Amino acid sequence: MVMTFRQQAEQGAQKLVTAAGQQLAQDNMLGTRKMDFQQWLPLTAALSGNQCNDYDALAQYFAENHVKKTQASTERELILEAGWRSLMAAETCQALRAMAPGGVGNTDLLPDNVLRKIGVAIVDGTMAAIAIICGTSEDDIVASNLVEELRDKGILVMLAGGIVEQYSGNQSLAQADNHIIPLGKEAVHAIHAFTAAARIGFLLGNIVPGDRDRLLTFLATRLPAFVISLGSQQLEQAAVCAGAMSLGIPVVSDQPLPPEEEIAGLFETARINNGSELINLAIEMKEIKVKVTPLQIPIKVNPAYEGEIVRKQDTWVEFGGNKVTAFEWLQMVGKEDIDDGRITVIGPEINEIPEGSEWPLGIVVKVYGRKMQQDFVGIMERRIHYFISYGEGLWHIAGRDLVRMRISKEARQQGFTIRDIGELLLHMFRTTFGTIINRVEIILYTDAHVVEREVKAAREFYAIRDQHLQGITDEMVDTFYSCTLCQSHSPNHVCILTPERGGLCGAVTWLDARASYEMNPVGPNQPICKGECLDATKGMWKNVNEYMCQASNRTVEEVNLYTVMDRPVTSCGCFEAVMAVLPQANGIMIAARDYSGETPSGMTFTQLMGTCGGGVQIPGFLGVSRRFITSGKFIPADGGLARLVWMSKELKESLRAELNERAKKLRLGDNFVDSIADETTGVTEEEILPFLQERNHPAFKLPPIM
Ligand code: SF4
Ligand code: NI
Ligand code: NI
Repeated sequence: MVMTFRQQAEQGAQKLVTAAGQQLAQDNMLGTRKMDFQQWLPLTAALSGNQCNDYDALAQYFAENHVKKTQASTERELILEAGWRSLMAAETCQALRAMAPGGVGNTDLLPDNVLRKIGVAIVDGTMAAIAIICGTSEDDIVASNLVEELRDKGILVMLAGGIVEQYSGNQSLAQADNHIIPLGKEAVHAIHAFTAAARIGFLLGNIVPGDRDRLLTFLATRLPAFVISLGSQQLEQAAVCAGAMSLGIPVVSDQPLPPEEEIAGLFETARINNGSELINLAIEMKEIKVKVTPLQIPIKVNPAYEGEIVRKQDTWVEFGGNKVTAFEWLQMVGKEDIDDGRITVIGPEINEIPEGSEWPLGIVVKVYGRKMQQDFVGIMERRIHYFISYGEGLWHIAGRDLVRMRISKEARQQGFTIRDIGELLLHMFRTTFGTIINRVEIILYTDAHVVEREVKAAREFYAIRDQHLQGITDEMVDTFYSCTLCQSHSPNHVCILTPERGGLCGAVTWLDARASYEMNPVGPNQPICKGECLDATKGMWKNVNEYMCQASNRTVEEVNLYTVMDRPVTSCGCFEAVMAVLPQANGIMIAARDYSGETPSGMTFTQLMGTCGGGVQIPGFLGVSRRFITSGKFIPADGGLARLVWMSKELKESLRAELNERAKKLRLGDNFVDSIADETTGVTEEEILPFLQERNHPAFKLPPIM
């Protein structure tokens, strides 16, 4: 019959306790009890809660606790209880055996001065953690790679069991290295590591020997340590692993484990026998901060470059725009579906892309994290824009499938590659979101066919994200959120995010902002409790005004959320589309960012952007997201959708179904979209008026807009 881990640990504990009892009896006869109890058995003294202060008390304790006595009921409690007894027994055995005639006479592998050095290195972060490896790996190569990788990550490695031989078989590692400490050839020798951990607590944690609770708190919260258990576990190995768990030190096993035997965060198994996977898992369980390797790419990366513009004539390659597709997509995946740190470029590298090209691009960022939530996806994806903008010689605007990005000739000359976009993102995601995400992988697509295929999948996910908000209205919530991310390039601009109106960049919704606030309460998204309503029609609230005033550096004192005509919200430069009033048509027009032609306002998109960007209130003009056009809060104070007389054609067609549906609800007829003009109708007010009149556009029935 196959034993469960708990059964193994309990039997192992029993074996160890029996052995300790015998050792104590023998020791009694030999009269070798000359050791200072507290000093030689620090863990035992502490774990018994000072009940055992001498060897008689300990012998008594072991006799009574030969098998489990507690009323522990859950598997977890039973395991921890077995672990507790195992530690005391193992420590006792090791100490007494060493002191017995013929013993080594000294178990002090790690004298106080060494322990103090280790402790200090851990506290000041020079050493990331202590890894205790016990058992024997089924594979010698995996074993030595494991030790090597831990050492390279700045982790102190202690070895107990067959791994000691396996590791010393590796010549390069066997050479004296003070980052690797062999403890003994049996798994149970791992006890020296736990004893050492307790002594570090006494030395640095200001804990007096015997103070169990403070010792346990220190070990659980201040000492980043973990156990990697290799090979099929012998009873004693299971017992010391349970011992580690009872100290709050997590154990990762390389053996398959039935899911019900796993204890999340304390006892887990890696699904593949691979050293890196074992290490990643342990690091995540104990939330150990490994140093992020410094970013090494040929351009400077600094928030100061965010506002830098790469002009067309200085551009080596431009991604996205009118002719080619570019998108970015952050995916939250399971730990099996990600290869941490990997960067893949699928398609041509920069040296295969001719100067002055317009090229397709897909940026996929996969993340996995124990604290990651689906709600964080949108806000993290939006950060791609910022991270790339920080690169000298890189220019990036918009998000999702409307991305446009340029790499300058200068950056190209410095040796910047497509792959370096991945290096940059990998580094920035790790340093910025290290507490939430544990693994990051980047895929960059530059092959047109693959980009077209992947963007379809991405769009499905964007749509699902947008749907989360459906059915939530502004009236249903009492808190709006702000976004001040764009103050890096528009110092007075603030977006106010409500359920029915996301950020004008199209990439941050009210839900995203709420999640972002949860992730980082002092970050760029702050809650604004609506408070007193000053104008329900135009959408003005006292608290929103107050917030706006302070966050806009006193440049905007009052703001209406539901009109474009009277003290409207401001725009930075990131909007997906721009609205402008057309006085003769008594309506408004909207041009999408990728529409480069003339519009009935007499200005192109770029000219309109020059007019209303920059965080200033300009009545009659507004930067918006594409999604906002179909929102229930689309300028209701000005007459809503009935005002819409002209749209750039691609935008109109892409929103056709949703616009018609909204229009029907507003009793604007069945095919409202057919009464909206576009560039094929005309690009001046004069040109489109006959069309609007012929279609009997509802805007004519509304009161004058100006
Ligand atoms: Fe935030 Fe608005 Fe900038 Fe989007 S456009 S990132 S919502 S400030
Ligand atoms: Ni902006
Ligand atoms: Ni921006």
